[in-house]
Order: sequence, then structure tokens, then C-alpha cells
Amino acid sequence: MSYDTITVESRDKVTLVTINRPQALNALNTQVLEDLIAAFAAFEKDDTQGCLVLTGSGDKAFAAGADIKEMADKPAAEFYNEDFFARWTSNLVRTTRKPWIAAVNGFALGGGCEVAMMADFILASEKAKFGQPEIKLGVAPGMGGSQRLTRAVGKAKAMEMCLTGRMMDAEEAERSGLVARVVPHDQLLEDAVKTAAAIAAMPPMAAKVNKEMVNAAFETFLDQGILHERRLFQILAATEDKAEGMAAFIEKRDGEWKGR
Ligand code: CAA
Repeated sequence: MSYDTITVESRDKVTLVTINRPQALNALNTQVLEDLIAAFAAFEKDDTQGCLVLTGSGDKAFAAGADIKEMADKPAAEFYNEDFFARWTSNLVRTTRKPWIAAVNGFALGGGCEVAMMADFILASEKAKFGQPEIKLGVAPGMGGSQRLTRAVGKAKAMEMCLTGRMMDAEEAERSGLVARVVPHDQLLEDAVKTAAAIAAMPPMAAKVNKEMVNAAFETFLDQGILHERRLFQILAATEDKAEGMAAFIEKRDGEWKGR
């Protein structure tokens, strides 16, 4: 399948998706959304693919936000009637059950920061910069930033970033819990694909369940989350991959996974 605004390649069990509008700092317009939805759906369906990496083309940006030029003349009623922005979360988060990583190679601002935060985790280059500068445009985050950023870094920093629009560099983002790891700029992609390959080599059903469990921590009270975890563990205990994984450990060999 070919796309207008992204490139997609498979590296063994890893799908690498690159937002490809470098002239607009990879700003997220409706075509990018349509292309990403299609690419994520294809990844989700393809049993040969175990983990996805999303990054931005060029040396400057992961994505500098929702496309301001597309939004500038759009009437409020259209934003409301189209439920503009809703499909980002419903498709990239809710219907993507396999793990995916955001490899943030530069500016991740506004919607760019929000899409990065939709990933299961973020790996950042030393040049990465995160921010929610929407206030400077007379608006506010619209793709989950006020909620996901606050859960990731706490109220003080999230509030400061949303109210001032200031950017957070990679080192501060790691210190604040927004990113899993910072890596040298020229090694970001290699590191992200290697990390994704390690995840893709895991038992596929266990990968989905681990993701679901961690995400439940943001949706439930502690007791319910722990119960959810225990029930999912008990379901995994019935899989062929559990029998294989434990036998492989005892027999000192690598497991061979069936995804069931
Ligand atoms: N939308 C559309 N075009 C954008 C864009 C965006 N979000 N960000 C950058 N561009 C375009 C610029 O218009 C420019 O295009 P032209 O060459 O045609 O003029 C090109 O990308 C290069 O950008 P700059 O010349 O501005 O590059 P710079 O290095 O001087 O500055 C920057 C980089 C600080 C990231 C600056 O581009 C910037 O501030 N961008 C906007 C960031 C922003 O406000 N993002 C939030 C958008 S609203 C949103 O995302 C809502 C939501 O919550 C979902």
C-alpha cells in the first residue's frame, strides 16, 4: 500500500512508520491522520509484525503539531460536528492493541507531543523538544495533551507547560517521566528499531496483555487494577505460549511462540 504523507517499511518483525512532511515540520493534517489510521490498522492485522515505531522525517521534527493552516479558517461548528481530533485516540490508542513506540527526533509540539504520548512509550533523541504551545494560538490541547501530559509529568509541570507554552528538552523530559530513555540523535532510529525488535520477539499475546495491564493503571482504582491484572495473568496461564515459555526456561533454550 502506498501513502501520501507517511512512509512505511518492515524491518523483520518491526513496522517503521515515518511522518513525511518535512517542509511543514511533519504537521499533522487530515491526510496524515488517514494514512496513519490505515498503516496502524495494517500493522495490527499483520501477524508477522510485533511492534511499530513511529518517527518524523528530516532532522528537525517528530511533528510540530496539528496543521495550523488546515485549522485556521475552520468554523467551530465543523470542529464539533466532525468531532475533530477524536479519531486520533480511537484509532492509534484504542484499536491498536499491539505495542508501539514513538521515536521523537526533534520538535514534538501540540498534536505532535500528544501523538507521542499516545505511544506505549517514548524514546527521545538528545535534540527532542516537547511542548503544548496551543495557548499561544488562542486554543488549548485537543488530542489528549492536558490529560496525558498531566498523568506523565504531574500537575505542576503540565500546568506550567500548558499555560506558558514553553518547551521541555529531552533531558528534562526524561527526568520528569515523559520519556523512557534519551539516546544520541544519530542513534535514535537504530535504538528504537532494536528495542521494538526485542518486544516483537516476545510472546505476542503476552505483549498485548502486558500493555493492557499497564494502561489499566490509568483507568481504574488500585484494587480494580490489581484484580484486572490477576485475571489477565490467569488467562495467560492457559496459553500455549505460557507452557512453552516455562518449559523453555527449564530446558535452557529459547521459546518458540504461537501467539495463543
Ligand atoms: N502547522 C502547519 N505548518 C507548520 C506547523 C504547524 N503546526 N509548524 C511548522 N509549520 C510550517 C511553517 O509554517 C513553515 O512553513 P513555511 O516554510 O511554508 O512558512 C515550516 O513548517 C517551517 O517552520 P518554521 O519556519 O516556523 O520553523 P522554525 O524552525 O523557525 O520554528 C517551530 C520551528 C518553533 C516548531 C515553529 O514552526 C512553530 O512554532 N510551529 C508551530 C507549533 C505549534 O504551535 N504547534 C501546535 C499546533 S495546534 C495543535 O497541535 C492543536 C492540538 O492540540 C491538536
